[in-house]
Amino acid sequence: MVMETERKAGALVFAVNGERFELPTVDPSTTLLEFLRSRTPFKSVKLSCGEGGCGACVVLLSKYDPVLDKVEDCTISSCLTLLCNINRCSITTSEGIGNSKDGFHPIHQRFAGFHASQCGFCTPGICVSLFGALVNAEKSNRLEPPPGFSKLTVSEAEKAVAGNLCRCTGYRPIADACKSLAADVDIEDLGFNSFWRKEDSKEVKKSKLPLYNCNNEVCTFPEFLKKEIRSGMYLDSERYNWYSPASVGELQNLLKVNKGTEMKIVVSNTGMGYYKELERYETYIDLKHIPELSILRIDQTGVEIGATVTISKVIEALTKERQHDFHSRDEIVFRKIASHMEKVASEFIRNTASVGGNLVMAQRKGFPSDIATILLAVDSVVDIMSGHQFERITLEEFLLRPPLDINNVLLSVKIPSVRKAFPETNTILLFETYRAAPRPLGKALAFLNAAFLAEVSPCETSDGILVNQCQLAFGAYGTKHAIRARRVEEFLSGKILNAEVLYEAIKLVRATVVPEDGTANPAYRSSLASGFLFEFFSSLLDRGAEITTSFLNGCKSTSLVKHSKLGQNNDQFYSNKSPTLISSARQVVELSKSYHPVGEPVTKSGAAIQASGEAIYVDDIPSPTNCLHGAFIYSAKPLAQVKSINVNSKPHLDGVAAVISHKDIPEVGENIGSSFMFGTEPLFADDLTQCAGQRLALVVADTQKNADRAALSAVVTYGMEDLEPPILSVEEAVKRSSFFEVPSFIDPKPVGDISKGMADADHKIVSAEIKLGSQYYFYMETQAALAVPDEDNCIVVYSSTQCPEYAHSVIARCLGIPEHNVRVLTRRAGGAFGGKTVPSLPVATACALAAHKLHRPVRIYLNRKTDMITTGGRHPMKITYTVGFKSDGKVTALQLEILIDAGIAPDMSPMMPHTIMSALQKYDWGALSFDIKVCKTNNVSKSAMRAPGDVQGSFIAEAIIEHVASTLSLEVDSVRSLNLHKYNSLKSFYQDSAGEPLEYALPSIWDKLAMSSRFNQRIEMVKKFNGEHKWKKRGISRVPIIFGVRVRPTPGRVSILKDGSIVVEVGGIEIGQGLWTKVKQITAFGLNSILGSEDGDLLDRVRVIQADTLSLIQGGVTGGSTTSESSCEAVRLCCNILVERLTPFKERLQEQMGPIKWEALISLAHLQSVNLAASSFYIPDAASSLYLNYGAAVSEVEVNLLTGETTMLQVDIIYDCGQSLNPAVDLGQIEGGFVQGIGFFMSEEWLTNSDGLLVTDSTWTYKIPSMDTIPKQFNVEILNSSHNEKRVLSSKASGEPPLLLAVSVHCATRAAIKEARKQLLSWSSLDEYKSIFQLDVPATFPVVKELCGLDAVEKYLEWSLGKNM
Ligand SMILES: Cc1cc2nc3c(=O)[nH]c(=O)nc-3n(C[C@H](O)[C@H](O)[C@H](O)COP(=O)(O)OP(=O)(O)OC[C@H]3O[C@@H](n4cnc5c(N)ncnc54)[C@H](O)[C@@H]3O)c2cc1C
Ligand code: FES
Ligand code: FES
Repeated sequence: MVMETERKAGALVFAVNGERFELPTVDPSTTLLEFLRSRTPFKSVKLSCGEGGCGACVVLLSKYDPVLDKVEDCTISSCLTLLCNINRCSITTSEGIGNSKDGFHPIHQRFAGFHASQCGFCTPGICVSLFGALVNAEKSNRLEPPPGFSKLTVSEAEKAVAGNLCRCTGYRPIADACKSLAADVDIEDLGFNSFWRKEDSKEVKKSKLPLYNCNNEVCTFPEFLKKEIRSGMYLDSERYNWYSPASVGELQNLLKVNKGTEMKIVVSNTGMGYYKELERYETYIDLKHIPELSILRIDQTGVEIGATVTISKVIEALTKERQHDFHSRDEIVFRKIASHMEKVASEFIRNTASVGGNLVMAQRKGFPSDIATILLAVDSVVDIMSGHQFERITLEEFLLRPPLDINNVLLSVKIPSVRKAFPETNTILLFETYRAAPRPLGKALAFLNAAFLAEVSPCETSDGILVNQCQLAFGAYGTKHAIRARRVEEFLSGKILNAEVLYEAIKLVRATVVPEDGTANPAYRSSLASGFLFEFFSSLLDRGAEITTSFLNGCKSTSLVKHSKLGQNNDQFYSNKSPTLISSARQVVELSKSYHPVGEPVTKSGAAIQASGEAIYVDDIPSPTNCLHGAFIYSAKPLAQVKSINVNSKPHLDGVAAVISHKDIPEVGENIGSSFMFGTEPLFADDLTQCAGQRLALVVADTQKNADRAALSAVVTYGMEDLEPPILSVEEAVKRSSFFEVPSFIDPKPVGDISKGMADADHKIVSAEIKLGSQYYFYMETQAALAVPDEDNCIVVYSSTQCPEYAHSVIARCLGIPEHNVRVLTRRAGGAFGGKTVPSLPVATACALAAHKLHRPVRIYLNRKTDMITTGGRHPMKITYTVGFKSDGKVTALQLEILIDAGIAPDMSPMMPHTIMSALQKYDWGALSFDIKVCKTNNVSKSAMRAPGDVQGSFIAEAIIEHVASTLSLEVDSVRSLNLHKYNSLKSFYQDSAGEPLEYALPSIWDKLAMSSRFNQRIEMVKKFNGEHKWKKRGISRVPIIFGVRVRPTPGRVSILKDGSIVVEVGGIEIGQGLWTKVKQITAFGLNSILGSEDGDLLDRVRVIQADTLSLIQGGVTGGSTTSESSCEAVRLCCNILVERLTPFKERLQEQMGPIKWEALISLAHLQSVNLAASSFYIPDAASSLYLNYGAAVSEVEVNLLTGETTMLQVDIIYDCGQSLNPAVDLGQIEGGFVQGIGFFMSEEWLTNSDGLLVTDSTWTYKIPSMDTIPKQFNVEILNSSHNEKRVLSSKASGEPPLLLAVSVHCATRAAIKEARKQLLSWSSLDEYKSIFQLDVPATFPVVKELCGLDAVEKYLEWSLGKNM
């Protein structure tokens, strides 16, 4: 008999949501995510980036310690975790914490009630992130929270989800849902929700929240697994090729035995997020079970960290209150290190990512590590094992060595106590770490990081400060590894600090921190190094006397070290210590009762199942038997012959079933991948590729991973013979007259007499230029489709598309079959933003083609990189303008030349001139003329992205107004006000869409916003702030928008089933915008009149079902912001028909039977063959199809002049929603749209190589807003403007227009930069810092910093030293 404690080799066993899984064998490269999604029913775990950067795949990992009888829980990213790594662990997904069958968890209910889920693709991951924090908070020994709340704090709740990305909501409602569980929340701080009314008392509000009771909390670790663990089973290494040595000796043997084989050492595999290796290894060696590698010991000699210890554990240990009298110098250093480590990746990565893995990545592959830099500054040492040799070397030496080979293992790293190097007690020890990165709370690699340790003391001979010693480390700036700036250290040591010394030190830093060739923004990165050094030392310059006094008063090291960010108190660097996440938000919403339940903030349809992860997206549909998976091979060249495509160059690429290219298109079919009203685009390049990123072929394989692997490693041979050079710029397109035609019916028309307008001008700006780049959709669900061949040459395609009707006809054309052989089904899309209109069509079509050819189901779920590279995005453009204006700032004429880069196909690009002009005309330009060219280039086709053209038009208008104001040295806000339309000018610019004078709401919004945002007072406060602060400047800006929309025809059908439940079909697709919710509301409203008084609301009886192109035809495109309202109107027409049929029937029954209930009425109607289905096709009449939307925003920002970081301090928006159909939904659209706009204007950099191939193609390089980069105060007021019969129940659109308001953030940033330049001019008396400058879009840190002066610190020091007088 085997003893209970004896180790027995066994199968891979784990639990998911309490269910036992035992896998007799598995490919060791399988990730947890792959397993969950393909082999369990738990689809809440979403794949969005596959590289640890988004949080859609977060699950809770629970481990059981049989000795302590304790369960440890933490969140992890399942896309990077290898399955063998979770042997004997328990996994909890969002379905596991609650679901529709067993009851939702209060987290799910609160996400629904706070309107925190739109498309829902991010929601399950966010719920689990919050759940993880909740579970751990409940384990703490904190005081019991009030009933209904948890032990979480507000700040923990926010931070728990700060690593999760959401592209829809703008985060504010997510933060509210999370905070609602926190013990210390002030319920009045929580935003608009469906639980309570604003006027309810605090107690009532609390009572209305879905109850949370920690005693009902989900068990995260099942008993059966505990028993199995106690029985001492371990993984049978041979069977899985997965070895888990239990000692260093075993590890040495394993390395020896497996020498020469393809072997990989793993700890938690998060490194794969960055390196995305394609290799399959024969053997995996997991270091986690070696006790020596998991030590974490803190004692008087320092901190010893085993290589496999996770970053989270190190943070926890370093921040723990220590019982014994630990030396304060060490304590401070440890805390700073911990606080820096909290900015490494996100919590769900740090929970498994090992410190050793990080350092090895830095050593071996030049990874821009933070940990290497900060540990380098404190003279850390490492223990390494090479074969049978052990050695202890400094971290610096370790980094300098050639890359470790597989036989070298990092065992541990030691941070020595600083007391050893700095034994002096009569000195002050300063330690600080720095990083400049696009997101303050991590989730972004640093442009540069640094850590400085310095021992200083008051100088005995003067009131200066003496630098005894210092250790300065810099990293991540485009260097092979972090470095110690030895020359600077030597220079500073022994010097008395003064401006001259600091100036020289900074010059030396500049010469030391030199990014390698090819690094992006090299000058910016070097400037960060000098900025941080300046920040570290400069406050000491003026504070010698103060420091000496405090020193003499016994403060010595402690107090100063504690506040070693020396500027903290003198307010120069840290004037705004506002909380890092959202500090407050206000929503002002007027509810309209006129069309109940329309106008109510009804919870989003399906929000709870979205939160629990039960909502089904295309890739969640179980694969039919024999299903294959496809991945695109795309071109890396812009214009070249495709000579061959070889996918079999590596023998390990198994599972490939076929490579489908244009040659596989049936003879009766067409090489067509998409089609819009202006033309088509081929599905695959034929023998000539037209752009980098063009689809060349589809690899079809047994799994998505094999297909992706094969596609990525495919070798394409190109030829360039006899080809003209590609057209990669609009300028080149003009030279070669390469344009798409703009049909005259959508060509915008000039306004007024341009010559007269120019002649009337007092001043002119001639031929100024602006360039705008692209923006990627970044929907959380990438393009997806599943095609299933059907009988008789038919095909069913599930597509994540915004326009199933278009997919339908393109598929039919490509396959050469009649349209009635094709059926396209779309239930919902996990975010779309225009990217699932035309760009979704080739994915559905390629899937259909492969399925058709192979007679097998085929599915495609694009990986993030392929999606980013092949899927167009916003249109880049070049604008040249000449503007004439009076001396008071009134513009009299504007002349524009706009060159739009449309890419290789027309897509919807010919509509761009119209949309650009529509939004640009928000000001009265006097006269307006333009020449807009839609350029055909050898770039990927650009398509519609939320507010296509409008956002650029609005920006161009603001850039011109800013230019005029700067030229005249006028306040820009007054120039804006002066140029706002009066009704008459509005009419001449907008003609058919201007509406009646009373409908022109902008002037009143403009004034109202000034009041509600305290605009004028804040301008004064900003001025005061700027006068008082050198290294931070603020800017504030108010911006208006006018956005024209067109309501388009659309179908609808309402059917009442025998039991009284109602099924609704509409042309529009639910993409997160709340269409289904509004449609449900209008159905309930439309049928209301035949409802009995006791019947209650119909809302819960309505279900909106998926779009089916054979069931409801002519669905058109979901886009342009008006699909919700037109779908609602179509449904209302159906309801009218049903009411008309049922009313007389009901009256007859009532006469015979008295009052009759809804169910009885419908049942009898069925019996009597009343037609209970009604269809409609809503065609808006000419008078109501066009209308204008109005809004305005005030944004205030703060720019850090040393780093270029822009913090959005406050945003106030007023937006006119007409009579909102659902203010909760509209609020979500306003906030979400605005935040997406912030991404465009501030952070999302779409960069290509010289062939036009996108290089910012991952979450590592493309930065959408995250919870820590949105406005700290975010106030939105929805204006319920007057009734208007011409619009659908008087409502207005909300999907796109609010995105334009984000330009206010850009303008405010420009205002802050202006202040910085004014200051710089006063220091340098150089004319180069002119007040007229262009601020690029996006205004990233490097862009802002460059305008604020890359050498601002040097200029300041030179000025203070009188060097430039
Ligand atoms: C989304 C994301 C964001 C990140 N952001 C940051 C950031 O901002 N700053 C930062 O510093 N880091 C960042 N990281 C890096 C992160 O810290 C590392 O991925 C992690 O620490 C690696 O640990 P691991 O246990 O997962 O290593 P693994 O992925 O298992 O291993 C990494 C590599 O090291 C080798 N290896 C591991 N341990 C040893 C050892 N003891 N001896 C020899 N070889 C070994 C492995 O073979 C592999 O090649 C980020 C990572 C992700 C995924
Ligand atoms: S899918 Fe795993 S973090 Fe994005
Ligand atoms: S709701 Fe968050 S990504 Fe759509």
